[in-house]
Amino acid sequence: MSRDAIVDPALHRARRQRLLNALGDGVLLLATAREAGRNGDVLHEFRPGSDLHYLTGFPEPDAVLVARRIDLRRHHATLFVRQRDPERETWDGPRFGTEGAVRRFGVDRAEPVAELWKLLPELAPIGAPLFHALGRDHEFDRRLLAAFGAVADKRRRRVWPRHPAIVDPLPVMASERLVKDRAELASLRAAAAATVAGHVTAMRAARPGMFEYEAQVALEAEFRRAGSPRNGYPSIVASGGNACVLHYHDNDRRMVAGDLLLIDAGAEVDGLTADVTRTFPVDGRFTPAQAAVYRVVLRAQLAGIRACKVGARWDSAHRACVRSLTRGLVELGVLKGAPHELVAENAFRPFYMHGTSHWLGRDVHDVGAYEDAEGNPEKLRAGAVLTVEPGLYFTAGDRRVPKALRGIGVRIEDDVLVTAKEPVVLTAAAPKSIADIERVMAVRS
Ligand code: GLY
Ligand code: MN
Ligand code: MN
Repeated sequence: MSRDAIVDPALHRARRQRLLNALGDGVLLLATAREAGRNGDVLHEFRPGSDLHYLTGFPEPDAVLVARRIDLRRHHATLFVRQRDPERETWDGPRFGTEGAVRRFGVDRAEPVAELWKLLPELAPIGAPLFHALGRDHEFDRRLLAAFGAVADKRRRRVWPRHPAIVDPLPVMASERLVKDRAELASLRAAAAATVAGHVTAMRAARPGMFEYEAQVALEAEFRRAGSPRNGYPSIVASGGNACVLHYHDNDRRMVAGDLLLIDAGAEVDGLTADVTRTFPVDGRFTPAQAAVYRVVLRAQLAGIRACKVGARWDSAHRACVRSLTRGLVELGVLKGAPHELVAENAFRPFYMHGTSHWLGRDVHDVGAYEDAEGNPEKLRAGAVLTVEPGLYFTAGDRRVPKALRGIGVRIEDDVLVTAKEPVVLTAAAPKSIADIERVMAVRS
């Protein structure tokens, strides 16, 4: 069975009911991700669409959910799936088929996906809204419009309406997914544990003379050993000046003594991912200049984490980090002036050019609004998870920066669960203080 299958019918039924209650009367139409071609007849690795996986646990491509609420406690879910096919299964592995979809995943009805466009007009009555997110999959949208276009054509001599109103379910879906349920938190904790293990392994494996991709292999092998079938996003393994490239992906430089190595990588478990960055010296000891920058970033990150209180603005961590980093930039001799004025002028921007936080969950930059309808920042809700990831980036040629600091890039990133009490750092076990990193690295693999 695919490692993406989550066979817990009661859990998924409860999630569907919650979502359908929040959406109100109407029919939800939701497709999983599409398989993507890589080259020739080779496909990219398939990952189920986050929303469909959240609502069904079903792991296969070509799955479409059609669900409607009956009342506040009951709904009816039809899952359209690929049919069993002995020849294809010889090549690609077993399929659940319609019978398996009902028996294992607990939907009320399953049909071959080839029947979707024929059956949809029966399942989605004209008078009720059709909850469907346009624009995600143009081919799917085209077939949807064709199916209801044909219905509208047949009804052209009757009174309006001739087809259902299409209503975007994603804002409601995002609001549901923003607050993690108990099963999701367990998966996130497992993803965090695998991620921590990978970062520790990479710290112990890295050394001068090694290529960045060798450290990456050590990191990701540990993710797999710890039960993660894939990464939540491509690993950033950036040594020396590469740390200043925010989404560096080449990972092909040979590291030398005296480099810092920035690794931003997260393991995915049950479709949820951690997102952790650690920055450490490849030879196991920080230089005084590296340590000075590192301490500034760490102090800011701890201030950011403390700000993740329920009811606070979602960007409280950013505001705290910016204040702390600006003070640090003055202490490092990079900026001159009064820190509160420098904050107001965004003087930190050349050296800290990204945000501090994003929602985290199934997608590394997870769904969830950052502003309400009036444009005000959203408030932190208990059960939401966000990153806190300040950094400082001094490129090698930056003459505004004292010479000793040039070429140093540091980011520190953890995953924070907002609770009614104190924020919980899900990734706290990854070594972070200079002393802890040097101690862990003293035991080399
Ligand atoms: N790993 C991407 C990010 O930290 O946002
Ligand atoms: Mn992040
Ligand atoms: Mn990251």
